[in-house]
Amino acid sequence: MKKNILITGGAGFIGSHVVRLFVNKYSDYNIVNLDKLTYAGNLANLKDIEDKPNYTFVKADIADLDEMRRIIREHAITGIIHLAAESHVDRSIKDPFTFARTNVMGTLALLQAAKEYWESLPEKYEGKLFYHISTDEVYGALELTNPEGVESPFTTTASSTEHHLAFGTDFFLETTKYNPHSPYSASKASSDHFVRAYHDTYGMPTIVTNCSNNYGPYQFPEKLIPLFINNIRNRKALPVYGKGENVRDWLFVEDHARAIDLIFHRGKVADTYNIGGFNEWKNIDLIKVIIKTVDRLLGNPEGCSDELITYVTDRAGHDLRYAIDSRKLQKELGWEPSLQFEEGIEKTVRWYLDNQEWMDNITSGDYEKYYDDMYKNR
Ligand code: NAD
Ligand code: TYD
Repeated sequence: MKKNILITGGAGFIGSHVVRLFVNKYSDYNIVNLDKLTYAGNLANLKDIEDKPNYTFVKADIADLDEMRRIIREHAITGIIHLAAESHVDRSIKDPFTFARTNVMGTLALLQAAKEYWESLPEKYEGKLFYHISTDEVYGALELTNPEGVESPFTTTASSTEHHLAFGTDFFLETTKYNPHSPYSASKASSDHFVRAYHDTYGMPTIVTNCSNNYGPYQFPEKLIPLFINNIRNRKALPVYGKGENVRDWLFVEDHARAIDLIFHRGKVADTYNIGGFNEWKNIDLIKVIIKTVDRLLGNPEGCSDELITYVTDRAGHDLRYAIDSRKLQKELGWEPSLQFEEGIEKTVRWYLDNQEWMDNITSGDYEKYYDDMYKNR
């Protein structure tokens, strides 16, 4: 059967990598990218594939139920990969309602529209899939029991041998109880529950995956890594929240996209998979790697950007540590990250420095004002 795949949020960071992968790899699929083009959506992320015959872009809001009904029917959608969301924790602290509207009501509208269309077909749910992309942040925060870091008990290709650290003894498993703290993670947790409810109540074939922090090209520069690369280039302060001791588990975005491809095609319906590379970094250590890499690639004297580090008021409710246990995905579907972190960071820094026009377009105008407002009181 020819597959008509709806990818929501395809003009955003991760979505654009998923759209590119599917459009290039599956010439016999029709890929429909549905995106509202909020501040985070940017069609320049997809310039290289926009003219491909198997690609269509539709501008729409996932919270508009009638539009979702129309689009799903018009394109005879058989599979949905749902990434559209409000995604930045700091924005969710300032404006939680937008997060509830898009992440909760938007996901619900998409589920309902898919349900109505698929149930109207003679074969109903056969050959259909609603695949929901979520985050590890729904699990809450882990303890930081090894503040200096100890050798990780798990093998991985993502983390280099010099930095193979675990900052605590526990990890998020697929069975870990949900315990979200920020309005962002609370809204994602709620959307995950709705997706599972549509499976359990109506029999819709669904899958949910929860991934750790992504990094790589095309990420909006309000998130740590692209923000700091851009600030170093422009000799602006690097705002480190609190003491810089929070821990995040970083995965190269193309490895996440590959996992999504694998799970979309071979994942078990009604199941959940955690995606991560066992690659924990304390923020301040990661920031030092970024500074070193940017300075080297710009030809700056080593250490000249250390003075830009500026400790600022901590994020409210700042989760201490995220660390994903992705052994289920590795064991059941054979997924492995392809890149070591140092390679991934080098690739990422090079990309942002080589694509200054992309960055300058995004950071001019409204964003500049948002950024100044966000940071002036910290
Ligand atoms: P992003 O903010 O870069 O992109 C989100 C996209 O969704 C944008 O293109 C935006 O225009 C679109 N969008 C927002 N509201 C919409 C609406 N109402 N209707 C239609 N489109 C809308 O986000 P991202 O970092 O690419 O994250 C994508 C997904 O992956 C999200 O669901 C996020 O929760 C999840 N996720 C992200 C990370 C990460 O580290 N970035 C990690 C795990 C999971
Ligand atoms: P971020 O990229 O916003 O991702 P998330 O909050 O989803 O993990 O932040 C990554 C980490 O970096 C997080 O611990 C907050 C911290 N951080 C800073 O210290 N300064 C900043 O300017 C930003 C954006 C984040």
